[in-house]
Amino acid sequence: MNIIELTDVSKTYERNVKALKQFSLSVQEGECVGVIGESGSGKSTLAKLLVGLERKDQGDLSILGSTVSLQNKKEKAYFRQHVQMVFQDATSVLNPKLPIWKSVIEPLENFKKLKPRYLDKSPDSALEIAKVLLNMVGLDQQYLQAFPDDLSGGQKQRVGIARAISLSPKLLICDEPTSSLDVTVQKQILLLLKELQQKNQMSIVFISHDIRAVVFMCERIIVLKDGEKVDEFLIDDIYSNERHPYTKILIKAASYK
Ligand SMILES: Nc1ncnc2c1ncn2[C@@H]1O[C@H](COP(=O)(O)OP(=O)(O)OP(=O)(O)O)[C@@H](O)[C@H]1O
Ligand SMILES: [Mg+2]
Repeated sequence: MNIIELTDVSKTYERNVKALKQFSLSVQEGECVGVIGESGSGKSTLAKLLVGLERKDQGDLSILGSTVSLQNKKEKAYFRQHVQMVFQDATSVLNPKLPIWKSVIEPLENFKKLKPRYLDKSPDSALEIAKVLLNMVGLDQQYLQAFPDDLSGGQKQRVGIARAISLSPKLLICDEPTSSLDVTVQKQILLLLKELQQKNQMSIVFISHDIRAVVFMCERIIVLKDGEKVDEFLIDDIYSNERHPYTKILIKAASYK
C-alpha cells in the first residue's frame, strides 16, 4: 500500500485561482519526497490537502489507504494519529500560555489509549513523557517549564517537531519547516528530521523553496510551477539533461552547477 496516492488532483480557490492542477503523486512507506517551487506555486495547498485542511475539487486522493472522507470515528482517529504536520512557524502551533512540557504532550492527551513504542521504558507521568519527547528532539530539559516566548525559533521548531512525532505518525508533512530559521539552525533541524525519519520509518513530504534543503532531505523531488507538476526526478538525476528548463533554472539559482 502506498502511503500517499494522488491522481489528477485539482484545487481551485475563490476568484478562480487554480492553486493545483491535475496533480499526481505517490509516496511509499519510509520514503522522503521533496516538493519545490516558487511562492504561489501551490505547495501549501498541497500540504493542506494531504493533512485534510483543504478539500480537493477533482481527482482521487488516498492517504494511508483511505480516501480521507473520514466518515467514521475510527478512520478519523487513525488519520489524526498518523498524518502530522510541521509548520513553517512553530509559534503558530504553540499556545503562549502553556509551558513547553504541556505543549509537547498535548497531542498525546487526545489519544489516551495510545502508548507509542518510544515510551516503553518510561513511567506514565506527563512530565516524564515530555522529558522523553524533548530528548528525542535534542532540546534540553531546562526548557520543560519555559514558555514559547523564552525559546529561539529553532528551539520552538524542535518543540513543534516533538509534538508532530509524539503520536508515532506514519506520515509527516513538512511545509517550509526551516524557512524562518538562521542558516546554521536550518541545518540542525534538517539533520534532526532526517534522523527521526530513519529511526521511525516515517514517510515525509518535505516542502521548500530551498532546493538545497530538499536535496539534503529527499530521495525524489517534484517541481511545482503555477500549480502544475513540471518535473519529477530522483536525486541522482538532478544534473541530467532531461531536467525541465525550470528545474535547471532553480538549480542554477542555487549555484549547484
Ligand atoms: N485560502 C485561499 N483562498 C484563495 N486563494 C488562495 C488561498 N490559499 C492560497 N491561495 C492562492 O493559491 C495559490 C497557491 O498558494 P499556496 O499557498 O499553495 O502557494 P505556496 O507555493 O505555498 O507559496 P509560498 O511559497 O508563498 O508559501 C496562490 O495564488 C495563492 O494566492
Ligand atoms: Mg506556502
